[in-house]
Amino acid sequence: MTKKGRVFSGARPTGRQHLGNYLGAIQNYAELQNEYDCVYCIVDVHALTTVETTQELRQNTFEMALDWLAAGIRPEETIMFVQSHVPEVMELHAYLSMVTPLGKLTDLPTFKEKIRHQPENVNYGLLGYPVLMTADIVLYKTDVVPVGIDQVPHIEFARETVRSFNYRFQTQALIEPQAKHTEIKKVLGIDGKEKMSKSLNNHIELAASPAETTKRVREMVTDPARVKRTDPGNPDICNVFTMHKIFSPQDEVDMINVECRRAGIGCVDCKMRLANNLNKHLEPFRAKRAEFESKPDDVQAILDDGGKRARAVAQEVMAEVREAMKLP
Ligand code: TRP
Repeated sequence: MTKKGRVFSGARPTGRQHLGNYLGAIQNYAELQNEYDCVYCIVDVHALTTVETTQELRQNTFEMALDWLAAGIRPEETIMFVQSHVPEVMELHAYLSMVTPLGKLTDLPTFKEKIRHQPENVNYGLLGYPVLMTADIVLYKTDVVPVGIDQVPHIEFARETVRSFNYRFQTQALIEPQAKHTEIKKVLGIDGKEKMSKSLNNHIELAASPAETTKRVREMVTDPARVKRTDPGNPDICNVFTMHKIFSPQDEVDMINVECRRAGIGCVDCKMRLANNLNKHLEPFRAKRAEFESKPDDVQAILDDGGKRARAVAQEVMAEVREAMKLP
């Protein structure tokens, strides 16, 4: 089958992935493999911009790789690799930085947010983050980058940087990537308020045991106006119901939609049903993950092989880039 072009995406190694990562990104990564030639990168160098993620970089990379593989990333056809295994990206980052006006970097909302978030560690890497991200993307002549709304300014930045580079060096060596907006299923955490995230500890890990998963689901906040079992609830504002719509069979969703509103079903029962359906849904994932986990050398071999294949592409592109720049 001929594919539509190349997709590239990167994610920082945040360790074990949660339902929010799965529904918001990983599931989409897996699906895109059917239509595109895909390159998926664990961006360990980007992770170095924040101190709290650097201590457990190896472990976090390994755990994330397990989750990606278990969720259906197919390393035979897809290039799945670790960013630092392809040092050419650092070289390209340096060249791209020469066509990047400083003001553009300091103006980016993502940079401003980072310095608000970690005023004690405003390092150069944070400022250069979008330049390195551009290097990631263009190093593989990427056509399409699947992104959530927060990354849109970065893709726009990448496109402008490619235009500047190609113009300055009178070349077509770099390709302007297109953003592919993923219909983001914004998944709320168990608090029912904030987006699911590990740092807020409101997440449900994909790799959690069925018992742990059930425990987390039981902690989920439902309609706050429903205090007593006999109070009617409002599924429209209940995060448990939102998840039922994703993980439960339609007839059960319909039943809850009716019964919750007339207090025919209680929150505890409703959550137990969700926990059961979620556990059923994750069963094949967990089995696959456990298998990979028991063979860490195989996982390492997959990442090494991905790195080699990525590097082969990168070296060709870098030869073109150096030629265009007339580097001696
Ligand atoms: N900036 C992305 C994030 O924070 C991660 C990333 C790095 C990325 N390089 C990329 C995403 C290239 C897409 C393409 O989530």
